[in-house]
Amino acid sequence: MGSKQRLAGKLALVTGGSRGLGRHIAASLAEAGASVAVNYANNAANAEETIRMITSAGGNATAFQADITREQEVSELVHRVEGHYGRSIDVLVNNATGPQPMLPLEESTWQTYLDQLEFFVKAPLLLTKEVLPGMKSNGSGSLIHIGSEVVQIGNARFSSYVTAKAAMIGMTRSWASELGPHGIRVNLIAPGWIPVERHEGADTSGYQSAVPLGRMGEPLDIANAVVFLASDESRFITGQCLSVNGGRTYGI
Ligand SMILES: NC(=O)c1ccc[n+]([C@@H]2O[C@H](COP(=O)([O-])OP(=O)(O)OC[C@H]3O[C@@H](n4cnc5c(N)ncnc54)[C@H](OP(=O)(O)O)[C@@H]3O)[C@@H](O)[C@H]2O)c1
Repeated sequence: MGSKQRLAGKLALVTGGSRGLGRHIAASLAEAGASVAVNYANNAANAEETIRMITSAGGNATAFQADITREQEVSELVHRVEGHYGRSIDVLVNNATGPQPMLPLEESTWQTYLDQLEFFVKAPLLLTKEVLPGMKSNGSGSLIHIGSEVVQIGNARFSSYVTAKAAMIGMTRSWASELGPHGIRVNLIAPGWIPVERHEGADTSGYQSAVPLGRMGEPLDIANAVVFLASDESRFITGQCLSVNGGRTYGI
């Protein structure tokens, strides 16, 4: 088996895989040989474009609509994915995000915070509980959270997002301790600013000048890290936070 096929026979679910980082994560997992369930919420055309990209490159992927912040939809999503492929999910990438409003504290409410916690705490919890029975019975699995470098930076007027991303670190560490004895690994990738479709036209020069490696990150930089953490090449790594940001910050 070539190193490009190091996920052959595995089934991966990527939340928010229809565009942005999730699209590239899905494509790289498929290129490594995994069958990929591409979740999306609203934009079926984007999801189909991701599937077209993957299948035209010889990969295997199917789109699954579900709002991952809703308990019933998450349960149905995992059953649909596992039913479609006739096996349990081996790799779960908690990637989806909703809007990320930047607000001063005076304009932030408990609901503002809850909105972020829905995506970065509630959804990973619901999804993980659904995939756990399959992973436990296989005695293996990889859970990968997409966090953010903002936890190390503490960006002003962004506290709801920063707080929710910080909570993902707690989940990563506690779940790694609890699930390690079952052969299930849990890790977090903390990207720096990786321009995607929604950043089109943004001025990146100020940010880039503080990146030791001297360039903006690309979605493939994150996708490569996900494939590594999904594969057996990282088989002795769990509970870790991996910064993928050109050296802009150090470990969390
Ligand atoms: N890009 C960056 O610079 C950066 C930096 C640090 C961390 N991150 C993190 O990386 C992850 C991906 O970010 P991104 O920039 O690629 O985001 P994005 O381009 O905005 O994509 C968001 C994805 O989430 C999906 N989504 C939205 N609401 C959903 C819901 N309720 N249920 C299921 N899926 C839903 C969207 O699908 P629909 O379009 O169908 O709604 C879309 O596929 C996020 O966790 C983000 O916080 C990104």
